[in-house]
Amino acid sequence: MAYADVYAAWKADPEAFWMQAAEAIDWVKKPSRALFAEQAPLFEWFKDGLVNACWNAVDRHVLAGRGPQYAIIHDSPVTGTTHKITYSELRNRVASLAGALRAKGVEKGDRVIIYMPMVPEALEAMLACARLGAIHSVVFGGFAAHELAVRIDDAKPKAILAASCGIEPGRVVHYKPLLDAAIEQASHKPEFCVILQREQEVAKMVEGRDFGWHSFQYGTPPADCVPVEGDHPAYILYTSGTTGQPKGVVRPTAGHLVALNWTMKNIYGVNPGEVFWAASDVGWVVGHSYICYAPLIHGNTTVVFEGKPVGTPDAGTFWRVIRDHKVASFFTAPTAFRAIKREDPEGRLLAQYDLGSLRALYLAGERADPATIEWAQAKLKVPVIDHWWQTETGWPIAANPLGIEALPVKIGSPSVAMPGYDIQVLDEGGHPVGPDTLGAIAVKLPLPPGTLPTLWNAEERFRKSYLTHFPGYYETGDAGYVDADGYVYIMARTDDVINVAGHRLSTGAMEEVLASHPDVAECAVIGVADALKGQLPLGLLCLNKGCNRPHGEIVEEVIGRVRDQIGPVAAFKLACVVDRLPKTRSGKILRATMVKIADGEAFKMPATIDDPAILDEIRGALQRLGYAED
Ligand code: COA
Ligand code: AMP
Repeated sequence: MAYADVYAAWKADPEAFWMQAAEAIDWVKKPSRALFAEQAPLFEWFKDGLVNACWNAVDRHVLAGRGPQYAIIHDSPVTGTTHKITYSELRNRVASLAGALRAKGVEKGDRVIIYMPMVPEALEAMLACARLGAIHSVVFGGFAAHELAVRIDDAKPKAILAASCGIEPGRVVHYKPLLDAAIEQASHKPEFCVILQREQEVAKMVEGRDFGWHSFQYGTPPADCVPVEGDHPAYILYTSGTTGQPKGVVRPTAGHLVALNWTMKNIYGVNPGEVFWAASDVGWVVGHSYICYAPLIHGNTTVVFEGKPVGTPDAGTFWRVIRDHKVASFFTAPTAFRAIKREDPEGRLLAQYDLGSLRALYLAGERADPATIEWAQAKLKVPVIDHWWQTETGWPIAANPLGIEALPVKIGSPSVAMPGYDIQVLDEGGHPVGPDTLGAIAVKLPLPPGTLPTLWNAEERFRKSYLTHFPGYYETGDAGYVDADGYVYIMARTDDVINVAGHRLSTGAMEEVLASHPDVAECAVIGVADALKGQLPLGLLCLNKGCNRPHGEIVEEVIGRVRDQIGPVAAFKLACVVDRLPKTRSGKILRATMVKIADGEAFKMPATIDDPAILDEIRGALQRLGYAED
C-alpha cells in the first residue's frame, strides 16, 4: 500500500485503523474501542483495555523465543566499555528491580523520579516502574539541582532512582550531590532513594534514605507485571513552556504502546530483531520513545550510547557504533551532524568503517538545515529523513514513512502528515489558510494515540496552552506552511521556546533567573542563530538605577546563576548590559525584532514601537557580542 492509501484509510475510519494497530500489542483485557471522546476536547484511547508496558517491551519477547537476542547494547566510549544485555537478562534484571521497589512500598500510580546518565540501568528503572504501574519521570542529567527540585515538588515521587555520577567529556557530573541539594530544596521529600554506584565516582549515602542499587534487591522476590488501564499514565516528562514552571507531559500507557509499535515498521522501516539506534538521551522524549520503549516493544535491539558525536574520541564514533553493532536505522539531532561535519568536513573517518548495515538516517529535534542534510546524504549514501515531532506527541507528526513508501525528499521539509495527524495551518482568526501560506501549525482534534491527554496536575494549563487559542485544534506552538503536495515546513516557534543543540529550552525560565539578580531591573533573553547548535540564548540586562558595579561582573554572575539554577544544558554564555529594551507603546518587549537584528535579517519596524532609536543601541550591544553583523 502507498502512503496516500494508508493515510486515506486512517482518515476514512480512524477507529478501525487504530484497533487494527492495537492487534500487535498483548492485552490482559482487549479494549472495546479505540477512541473515548466523552470528555471532548479531552480524549483518551483504549481506556477500557488492561495492559502492561513492561510485558510488551520485555517479557512477551522472551516467551516468543527472543530471550537470547540482545535487547540493549550499552556502548560507552566515555568509560571505554561495551555491555550487552539479552531479553532474558533484561527480564530478570527488571523483575528483580521492580520486586525490590515493591518491597519498599512502590505501587501502581506512585511516582518515581529517575535521574540517571546513559546507562542500561536507566532503561531498567523505567521498565521496572512500568512493570508495577508506577509512573516514572526521568530528569535530564544536564539540569541543575533547582530544576530537579521543581520536578520533585510537582511529581511528588515516593522514590528517586539515581546514579552516583555521569561522565561528560573532561569532567565527572556529580549527580549525587545534585540530588541531595535538590531534595534539600524541595518541599516534598521522597521516602527513599536508590543509588547506582559507578566506579568513576562512588557517592556518599544518606543513612536510612539511600540504598545501593544491587544490595537493596537482595532477598526480595521478583515482581510480575501489574495490568493497568489503557489511560493509566506510563510516565510524566517535563518540558519547557513559557514560564520557569515546566510542563508535565502525561503519556498514557496503551496509546503509547500501540502508536510506538506502529511507527517502528511504518516510519523507521525496521523489522523485529534488527538493531535500532537513537543517539539522544533518556532525559528527552526521543530517549523515552526511541531509546527505551519503541525498539523494545517492537522486539528490536536498542543501542544506549554514552558519548558525544565528537571528542569521544573523535568524529568517527558514530560510524564505529553503526559498524560494530550493525545498526539498521539511526536517529539523531541535526546538531550532532553539524558537529561531525565541522571536525571532519571531508568525511575521511567514514572511509574507515563499513556502514553496510545502515539503511536510513532520521533527524529531528530541531530544524534540519539543507547543508547538513546534503552532507549526510552525500557521505552516508542512504535516505536522510527529517521528521517533526514534540515531547507532547511522543512520536512523529510529520515524516517520510520509509516502511510504507519512500516519498520524494524535499529538503527543508520534514515531509508529510502521519496517520492520526490532520495538520492544518491557521491564520490568527483560526481559519485554515491555503497552500504555501505561513500560519500557526495546528492539528485537528483528537490527537492520535500516544499523545498527551493532559498535563500532570494542570488540566487548566493544558487547555490554555494547547486547546483554547484555536478551538477544535491542538496548537503545536510551531509556525510554518504546507505546500500543495502536503509537505510541511516548520519555520519558527510562536512562543518563547528556543532550541539549543536539539534541546528545548524556555527563554522565559532564563529571564526569571536573570530578573532575580539584585542589580537587574529588567531583562530579555532571545534565541540567536548559531552555526553549530542552531540557536543560543542571549541575555540583555537593564540594571537598577544607581548601580555602578562593573558590567562584566554582573554579566559573569548572571551566567553563573543560569548554570546553577537551570543547568549547563542551557548553554547560557552570552549576555550584555543595555540602557533600555525596545518596547511597544503598551510595554511589550520586542524580542522578535531583536532576534532579527542579531541574526542580521531584514525586519519591518514595528508600528507600535515606543522609541525606534533604542534599536540602534541594541544593535551596537549585539555587535559587541559578535552578532548583528550587516
Ligand atoms: N549531563 C550533564 N551535563 C550535560 C549533559 C548531561 N547529560 N549533557 C550536556 N551537558 C552539558 C555539557 O557538558 C555542556 O557543558 P559545558 O558548558 O561545561 O561545556 C553543556 O551541558 C551544554 O551542552 P551541549 O549544548 O550539548 O554542548 P556540547 O558542547 O557539550 O556538545 C554537541 C555539542 C553538538 C556535540 C551536543 O550538543 C550533541 O551531541 N547534541 C545532540 C543533541 C541531542 O541528541 N539532542 C536530543 C534531541 S534528539
Ligand atoms: P521537543 O519537545 O524537545 O522534541 O521539541 C519540539 C520542538 O522542536 C518542535 O515544536 C519544533 O519547534 C522543534 N522541532 C522538532 N523537530 C523538528 C524538525 N524536524 N524540524 C523543525 N523543527 C523541529
